[in-house]
Amino acid sequence: MIQFDKQTNTLTLHTAHTSYQMKVDEKGVLLHTYYGKRLRKGDLSRLICHEDRGFSPNPYEAGTDRTYSLDTLPQEYSTCNVGDFRPTSLEADFADGSVAVDWRYVTHHILHGKYTIPGQPSFYDEGLTAETLEMVLKDAHTGLEVTLLYGILEELDLITRAVRVHNGGETPVALTRVMSLCLDFPAGKRDYITLGGAYAREREPVRAHLTQGTHSVGSVRGTSSHQSNPFVVVCDPDTNEDHGSCWGAALVYSGNHLIEVTGTQFDETRLIMGIHPFHFRWQLEPGDTFHTPEVAMVYSHQGLTDLSQKFHRGIRLNLCRGTWKDERRPILINNWEATYFQFDADKIVSIAQTASQVGVEMMVMDDGWFGKRNDDFAGLGDWNVNEHKLPGGLAPLAERINALGMKFGLWVEPEMVNEDSDLYRAHPDWALQIPGRKPTRGRSQLVLDLTRAEVREYIKDNLRRTLNSANIVYIKWDMNRSLTDVWSMGLPAQRQGELYHRYVLGVYEILEMLHQEFPHILIEGCSGGGGRFDCGMLYYSPQFWCSDNTDALDRLRIQYGTSFCYPCSAVGAHVSAVPNHQTGRETPMHTRGVVATGGTFGYELDLNKLSQDDLDEVAGQIAQFKEDWEVVMRGDYYRLTNPFEPGYYQAWMHVSQEKDVALVSVVMGETHANPIRPLLYLKGLNPQEDYELDGQVYGGDELMSGGLALPVQKEHGAVQYKLTRV
Ligand code: GLA
Repeated sequence: MIQFDKQTNTLTLHTAHTSYQMKVDEKGVLLHTYYGKRLRKGDLSRLICHEDRGFSPNPYEAGTDRTYSLDTLPQEYSTCNVGDFRPTSLEADFADGSVAVDWRYVTHHILHGKYTIPGQPSFYDEGLTAETLEMVLKDAHTGLEVTLLYGILEELDLITRAVRVHNGGETPVALTRVMSLCLDFPAGKRDYITLGGAYAREREPVRAHLTQGTHSVGSVRGTSSHQSNPFVVVCDPDTNEDHGSCWGAALVYSGNHLIEVTGTQFDETRLIMGIHPFHFRWQLEPGDTFHTPEVAMVYSHQGLTDLSQKFHRGIRLNLCRGTWKDERRPILINNWEATYFQFDADKIVSIAQTASQVGVEMMVMDDGWFGKRNDDFAGLGDWNVNEHKLPGGLAPLAERINALGMKFGLWVEPEMVNEDSDLYRAHPDWALQIPGRKPTRGRSQLVLDLTRAEVREYIKDNLRRTLNSANIVYIKWDMNRSLTDVWSMGLPAQRQGELYHRYVLGVYEILEMLHQEFPHILIEGCSGGGGRFDCGMLYYSPQFWCSDNTDALDRLRIQYGTSFCYPCSAVGAHVSAVPNHQTGRETPMHTRGVVATGGTFGYELDLNKLSQDDLDEVAGQIAQFKEDWEVVMRGDYYRLTNPFEPGYYQAWMHVSQEKDVALVSVVMGETHANPIRPLLYLKGLNPQEDYELDGQVYGGDELMSGGLALPVQKEHGAVQYKLTRV
């Protein structure tokens, strides 16, 4: 619900449990006055302190009033070079060489339903009470106009923001920084949490106490990256999983991003989020409009678990799309770690044969099926089947897989080209590179210039041809390097700064074609594992390969960090072989199964190499997951421990929306003689109801307050409990 109070000029956006308020002040400046727990009424601008602060200058129209300064007022969208020295929301080079922008209120509109953004992913309002606020601000001197878009998804407690920039002036403007979010907080101590990491160590939570200054993280890799996920939480210093205020923001974008958290001179906080300004320069001709990506925001006064659950629900139901978004995904087996590039049709069928006998539902053929792709030095770009490996093409193989009662899926990496490929030999200029400069290689490959329509059409045609050539129901869309040598033949010099963003729009255009033309196909996103695991990609692919690291213990950390924003329904998780290919570690088959049930669940090994005992265990895991998938996929997720802290065990649980089923997973840590045996306290159950576990009945309150005593387990052993309401 959006309330406009004409008397106080306040606009208050209400979701089920939160309120967000802004106010147009007497000078037309749009102040941010509140974001927090839901309020009945009030004009929170009364909390702003007006004082004459040294070196905080005053706008001309303030006259002799030295207490009015943009430097000390909380802003909804900060100005540039007119007296606010905190981070700016927008920077532009104007024709006269100036950079000043002073936003003043023009008008606003309240609309039914939620806005969309042309050519870009965004949350949608299906099944919800939703409204849009359009807030139009203008810089009178240059005619530059921004429309701040707010989407209110009431039941989800989600507020989205995006910005439309319009050049209403008479001369071209070059935008050099356009943030999607500017959020000011009142004075007070705060922490912030970001998701850092590295390849094979994605989304490691980093929590820091905010001190004065601007603390920034982000990506300039052309993708959202393994190293910095586009997600941030600002919270009170004492906020934990179950208590305390926290504000989360997720950028719905898959390219370069910037997150800036600033502690100001008066201990306020400013949070900025948007496209990274590095090599960003968007030429806006008179009359042109630029659209930023969207940010989704959640506030909770009940701690981080509640915050995460709200993101999970929103992403699962109102960001992910397509036939598969809320359906049980086929339990798959992928041949990558089983064979790498060394396979042929018979090998794939032999893995599928054994897989079909234990209940696996889909065979995914990974990298190596096309062109001269026998290693990662050649072949990308040539999307014709390697007939030495797969005589007769994909169709006969898919038929053999289908004859086993299994579906067939395929790996692709459409954005890339190897120099050793027919495509590169024919069109070297289709790869990003700067004339006269040798390109930087990544995994021995170059990046195709998706800003060019002919390149996008080539990719689309190849995808169409491949997908129509056989009965393919799934693709794994991979992307295995960062962007460098960012320069395009297709853009004039003054527009090269548009390339990074145009590249992302190109990726979205191709994925949208797949969504429209092949709606039945399940797309799993991937970028060397989880290098592009973001809300932008999840709009097109409801699941994402979480990490190339399949080690069960490392996965505990990766899946824990991922869960701060992203739902289990999106987390690609597989059981792989031991010793693990990334860490060399041995973990029991049971433990690997328990960890993989925290996501979409599947296998990534040669089942023919397993002992009969392990195969029996696999069959049991699959039968169990077919029973339990719903609580994992649609239930609420509770982090019971933090795997980055040493512990006797690591645990998490899923509880169905009706609180009638819960699945508790525990993986033991290191063992020591004569062990300490801490209890496990459950969460999220109904305290008034009873639950059955292994033939015994316990109260929900009892399990949460009294806890469970865990059985003695071997090192890195695992247990899984299923509780059913009686
Ligand atoms: C990336 C993916 C892997 C696999 C390989 C194939 O690294 O993350 O799962 O598909 O590419 O080359």
